[in-house]
Amino acid sequence: MIQIYNSLSQVPVFPKAINLELTNYCNLNCIMCTNGKDNFRGKGYMSNETINKILDEVIENKHMLINGVDICGVGEPLLHPEAINVINKLKFYNIRTMINTNGVLLDKEVAADLLESRIDKIMISLDAANRESYKKIKGIDVFEKVIDNITNLLILKNRKSYRTIIQINMLNMGENFSEIKDALLYWAEYLGENDVIYSRQVKTLAGEVKDLRSSTDITRNDLKSFKKALENEGINTEKLVVEDWEQIIEVIKNYGKLPCRHLWNYTMIFYNGDVTICCIDFNGKIVIDNVNNSSIKKIWNSEKYNNFRKIFISKDYEKIDLCSKCNEWYKCW
Ligand SMILES: C[S@@+](CC[C@H](N)C(=O)[O-])C[C@H]1O[C@@H](n2cnc3c(N)ncnc32)[C@H](O)[C@@H]1O
Ligand code: SF4
Repeated sequence: MIQIYNSLSQVPVFPKAINLELTNYCNLNCIMCTNGKDNFRGKGYMSNETINKILDEVIENKHMLINGVDICGVGEPLLHPEAINVINKLKFYNIRTMINTNGVLLDKEVAADLLESRIDKIMISLDAANRESYKKIKGIDVFEKVIDNITNLLILKNRKSYRTIIQINMLNMGENFSEIKDALLYWAEYLGENDVIYSRQVKTLAGEVKDLRSSTDITRNDLKSFKKALENEGINTEKLVVEDWEQIIEVIKNYGKLPCRHLWNYTMIFYNGDVTICCIDFNGKIVIDNVNNSSIKKIWNSEKYNNFRKIFISKDYEKIDLCSKCNEWYKCW
């Protein structure tokens, strides 16, 4: 059942989910990411003052935050010295918490800390199944280290029966289907309950990065047919979750382009406290305001935020450059 958002009265008083960027510094240089590109916004670490201000408000409004906090922006969150403390605090207050990491810093100690925090989900962007390809895609030669880190994490999770979900991301970069298959076969013996390999198509991030897809047609459903082909080979694909465009195709077929659901559901806070309407806004083109001079709730309910929502309600997508180029507006949640 598709939930359609087309009125301001449907806006909850506080976002249902928050993406929190602790830093946009990174220790890798992935070819598909905006992070290393010349036009990327300034870099920094979130100050402790900003972290505390955000956490206080998040804790106060935790009953509204049903989809929780994803520690993820454009950068490597584990580079931030407070990353584990932030997660511990969120979990202490029983707030659903996830992290996206490239896994380079996920050594035994960090893995133990994360699992002990009872974090709900750890998503590791591996994206390759061999050293050569890893170096090509991720820019730095640390494939073996990341493999060791993920292996230790999975072994520890299973040994101590932690309930954290481990998701290994394998981006489909054009024609690298064989590596997704290699990853599925390799990790099969390590993946525990609810752990998965997740594969989705590389994106242009609404035109922010070069198109690395093998096709630009959003109706293309290669990952689903790829999964089917593996099944036909007799491979157990239970642990392989692939991106599914069927929902968005169905929406377009039945309703045309609807108001983007993101503006009714979640918000993104950059390391410097800037709040933007979407995680696809990697370069901060649509910043609404800054949490340091306001609050999440005030910004979320502000006239400026609502004006963006009104643009969507009247289907004037072309007025927002980024959104007019985006094709992910109805896929998540
Ligand atoms: C920007 S990273 C930040 C967190 C962390 N550094 C990591 O790599 O997981 C978050 C996610 O965005 C994905 N990503 C980066 N560029 C992308 C693109 N052009 N298309 C699709 N996903 C992309 C990464 O693979 C990663 O899973
Ligand atoms: S995808 Fe993640 S690891 Fe790769 S450059 Fe971007 S932020 Fe860094």
